[in-house]
Amino acid sequence: MLIELRNINFSYKDSGEKALEDVSLTLTSGNCYTIEGPNGCGKSTLFRIMMGLEKPESGIYRVDGEEITPQKLKKESLRQNFYRRMGFLFQNCEIQLFTQTVEDEIAFGLEQLRLPESEIHARVERYLERFQLQNLRNRAPFHLSGGEKKRLALAAVLAMEPEAILMDEPISGLDEEGQRWVSEFLLEMKAEGRLMVIATHNRALAQSVADVRITMQHGRAQLIEKPQ
Ligand SMILES: Nc1ncnc2c1ncn2[C@@H]1O[C@H](COP(=O)(O)OP(=O)(O)OP(=O)(O)O)[C@@H](O)[C@H]1O
Ligand SMILES: [Mg+2]
Repeated sequence: MLIELRNINFSYKDSGEKALEDVSLTLTSGNCYTIEGPNGCGKSTLFRIMMGLEKPESGIYRVDGEEITPQKLKKESLRQNFYRRMGFLFQNCEIQLFTQTVEDEIAFGLEQLRLPESEIHARVERYLERFQLQNLRNRAPFHLSGGEKKRLALAAVLAMEPEAILMDEPISGLDEEGQRWVSEFLLEMKAEGRLMVIATHNRALAQSVADVRITMQHGRAQLIEKPQ
């Protein structure tokens, strides 16, 4: 998979400042990218463009050569294919939880992929176990703790096993043990050769998992390190 951002400029409607300024990045399968930078520098905004939630003012966003915009994603066939291949974890992951139980939350995305019933069942069990959610399986996602919600949102998106996975602050709000095993899990995923993009304030995570580190400063992105 090839994700290309070319000279992207973007400002929010009610803001005079540019949230993204001339951002150009090329992201390819088999690599893990981290995006670091201070609060408000534009990391989540960049994710919103890559999720197809916002249209750049100028510049172009392409996935495997096809331009992606909110407008184009209204077309059902493109939309399905796009969200099948790309998985997203929102910084505020609460907004992506909407079913009645923890296990339904993991099953929902898998049903959208129209996987066979037996495969759905197997994956739900596997990801409940991996994310230590077995004891919470019948609980309502809305009433979980912050860290539990984050584990569930991660389990639900990773269970879909997308080709590219974009995670906005995947370990923030987790306790030390949670941070450790989610970080280990991200390293395992990386070994599978997927395209991963991770926004994080955690330098240790970036150092251990990134092939390429990207830093942002006031809406501008810069590569700071190439693979050793
Ligand atoms: N919906 C919005 N409307 C207006 N301005 C916004 C909106 N969302 C973000 N911004 C502004 O855009 C800029 C970039 O915000 P963004 O959320 O992308 O930063 P970030 O790097 O993800 O920060 P953090 O580390 O706090 O998550 C900030 O100045 C922010 O105030
Ligand atoms: Mg953010």
